[in-house]
Amino acid sequence: MARKKIALIGSGQIGGTLAHLASLSEMGDVVLFDIAEGTPEGKALDIAESSPVDGFDAKLSGTQSYEAIAGADVVIVTAGVPRKPGMSRDDLVEINLKVMKQVGAGIGKYAPDAFVICITNPLDAMVWALQKFSGLPANKVVGMAGVLDSARFRYFLADEFDVSVQDVTAFVLGGHGDTMVPLIRYSTVAGIPLPDLVKMGWIEQSRLDEIVQRTRDGGAEIVKLLKTGSAFYAPAASAIAMAESYLKDKKRVMPCAAHLSGEYGIDGMYVGVPTVIGAGGIERVVEIEMDKDEKAQFDNSVDSVKGLIEACQRLAPELA
Ligand code: APR
Repeated sequence: MARKKIALIGSGQIGGTLAHLASLSEMGDVVLFDIAEGTPEGKALDIAESSPVDGFDAKLSGTQSYEAIAGADVVIVTAGVPRKPGMSRDDLVEINLKVMKQVGAGIGKYAPDAFVICITNPLDAMVWALQKFSGLPANKVVGMAGVLDSARFRYFLADEFDVSVQDVTAFVLGGHGDTMVPLIRYSTVAGIPLPDLVKMGWIEQSRLDEIVQRTRDGGAEIVKLLKTGSAFYAPAASAIAMAESYLKDKKRVMPCAAHLSGEYGIDGMYVGVPTVIGAGGIERVVEIEMDKDEKAQFDNSVDSVKGLIEACQRLAPELA
């Protein structure tokens, strides 16, 4: 069986990490694309030179030409600019929307059968625009946010309880922004929901509230520390897990920014919801029940995504 082909559009901090992770796990051959000449070529060669040491077989190449992504099985998009300290993800709309237009055209022409994972921020609006610009089916274009936000929540909880990250599950829904909704009731340690752990005296409610807030601010915390860019290790690992679920038809249940057609009462928007990812792309959107408070938070998050989409439509009327 021929190797799979993974195309990475954007070869910056996340793109380079994606290339390394995809190679180490022998996910397939990797094409790094970037408009910056030399960056994708240099990263491809550097990672290829590590292959004899780490013992993986993968062909890596760098390019400025969309033709090179032809026939890709998976395309992961990180092209654009990351935020700097003091900026919100929403400040990136104008510049990154233009990037999505170019990238969407390239994918539509050369990799129309790929499973496309968008990471570029502001995520929920950029993945929506990318799907429209590319013309690919909505179930094959998805945004990476929920896996990362949930991973941050899981890490903070595991650290707090001093238990393995493997035994902590967590759900974060809504948009990938300050309004994201970490769902306490559906987050567990070895199956025990967090509200029960509060009752059991493992944690005070006020401390749990602090962890929820830290999760919401998780991206900003990294931006503040790095000063020159945003997070890249955890975002890359999250997208690789999604790509693996697609390529191996694992049908993992993962929170992703998925296109909704009536689910959760929303039509024609991308919002973070639990999904099943398999060989068919987004095979199912899982509709969980929310209580009044959770629903209010979710609606608030959806409203902020709506605002971003409207901003995109003003900037690119063809998206209206
Ligand atoms: N086409 C292709 N690549 C582009 C384009 C374009 N039109 N415009 C910019 N790029 C490239 C840049 O040259 C750079 O190498 O995208 C890359 C982005 O890399 P970084 O600046 O290192 O950003 P990164 O940390 O990887 O984040 C990328 O993901 O999480 C989001 O907010 C983040 O939107 C940002 C994106």
